[in-house]
Amino acid sequence: MYRKTIPSLTILLGIFCILFACSKKEEIIVDPAIPDSYPDAIPATPQKSGDANAGWEFLRYGNYVGSGLPLEIYTSFFSENTENLLERDGDNAALPPSFVAFNIGDKRVVGGTCFTCHGSKLDGEYIPGLGNSFSDYTDNQSQTFGLLNTFLLTRYGADSEEYQNAKGLIQSTQAAAPYIITDFKGVNPAFDLERAAVAHRNLDFTWSETPLFTPPAGSVGSDVPAWWLLKKKNALYYTGLGRGDFTKLLMQTTVVGIKDSTEARAINNEFDDVLAYLQSLEAPKYTKSVNQELVAKGLPIFKDNCERCHGTYEVGFEYYPNRLIATNTVGTDPVYADRFLIDNELNDWFNNGWFGTFGTKASVEPSRAYIAPPLDGVWATAPYLHNGSVPNLYTLLNSADRPVFWERDFNDSTYDHEHIGWPYQERTSADNSSTYNTTLSGYGNQGHTYGDSLSEEDRMALMEYLKTL
Ligand code: HEC
Ligand code: HEC
Repeated sequence: MYRKTIPSLTILLGIFCILFACSKKEEIIVDPAIPDSYPDAIPATPQKSGDANAGWEFLRYGNYVGSGLPLEIYTSFFSENTENLLERDGDNAALPPSFVAFNIGDKRVVGGTCFTCHGSKLDGEYIPGLGNSFSDYTDNQSQTFGLLNTFLLTRYGADSEEYQNAKGLIQSTQAAAPYIITDFKGVNPAFDLERAAVAHRNLDFTWSETPLFTPPAGSVGSDVPAWWLLKKKNALYYTGLGRGDFTKLLMQTTVVGIKDSTEARAINNEFDDVLAYLQSLEAPKYTKSVNQELVAKGLPIFKDNCERCHGTYEVGFEYYPNRLIATNTVGTDPVYADRFLIDNELNDWFNNGWFGTFGTKASVEPSRAYIAPPLDGVWATAPYLHNGSVPNLYTLLNSADRPVFWERDFNDSTYDHEHIGWPYQERTSADNSSTYNTTLSGYGNQGHTYGDSLSEEDRMALMEYLKTL
């Protein structure tokens, strides 16, 4: 019966997808004093060590959310998920990767997981850590959200443990709702979600009913980087803004449900292991055969055109330079990077609050630049660029061929092995939410033209080489 009154509860329970109003984007005006060039390489900072297996366990079973909805509510709405893609035991075996069941006191609750955004299928095979480019944050979920809140209050009462366990999550997602609606499917508003959740959190994470600042209107989503790249990186995120203790940066998603800094410390203790797990991941090997002759031809082309930014991949000579490239130089859409410079309340909250001041420190250092990412497993990480505006490797290396409007079928069992990326249909306009619209602010597909001057023959050889990374 609830299924009828609360139709989209899946998305609601996804906790990151709760939305209610779409607002117009603010124009981005960057302070001309912000530099356009950066020191060549980002220096390494010492990192904590942990147990990779324990990290994998924790991500699949642990409480890193701080709050959750009663498990019995979840199971009364949803049938069992039989795929068990994360190979879990007990009641978690029946949940999809985006949910985890855990205990708060003696109550069993369900919260969202990292795999909501950091796990995906490719050619029908589930790959934990592969960025999920299938998410849908375009829907208006406000009414659904209101219904759920009322439903929990009516069923359990405001003072019940059940309601109190869910409250943190409900408050944050409700507050974040207007700020995380994306213009089309496939892009991820994670930082907009964090910014909006943080707007109601004091520096020690406690909830503030009055917002501490107003987040920017409208969302600018991004693609989701693959987890196996982390082990080479000295700074996290597309813009390289995540510095210092990675265990703190990795737990940022907890701001959505967390109660206070005591809980933050407890959660952070587990993230040494999570970091070790992420660092243990290897890029998936290309699943089809490669033409070794072409690969050999592609290697010197890579060396001449790409290595100075993306590093070397030959066994025994591996080197990754950790370069931050100014947006003016790489020429890709600057809006995503610029937003961190303009809307600096999140940076201040992070740097002045628990993350930046307690124990081993982490910091957020925005710049008008993007990291030249490691290219390990790049065959699997379509769509390309920080905003996912380029559907495949072929068009990444030939900018004249990049589609302005491209519609995906969002079927995860097909991959285009000829062009290396997700299949799409080119359109003349964007009239549905499955069509990527590169004319919108933040979603431009310009720049990174380093493959343009190659002959078609050389480009094909380079692509063959890229399949082997
Ligand atoms: C709502 C979706 C979402 C959830 C949930 C989420 N992430 Fe992310 N994550 C993202 C997006 C989007 C980015 C890219 C943002 C950027 O780089 O600017 C990202 C970036 C990262 C990166 C940086 C990788 C790199 O190469 O720089 C790591 C590591 C990471 N997330 C780990 C985690 C962990 C661990 C969790 C769970 C505790 C988690 N994420 C939960 C969406 C999410
Ligand atoms: C001057 C430095 C520079 C050079 C040279 C360069 N790149 Fe890049 N590359 C970057 C930067 C910076 C990004 C990230 C841009 C963004 O996301 O907006 C990037 C992104 C990419 C991506 C997207 C990765 C992803 O998962 O989204 C691929 C693939 C790539 N480069 C391949 C190449 C190849 C192949 C060459 C040689 C033909 C090359 N690059 C030359 C700096 C460079």
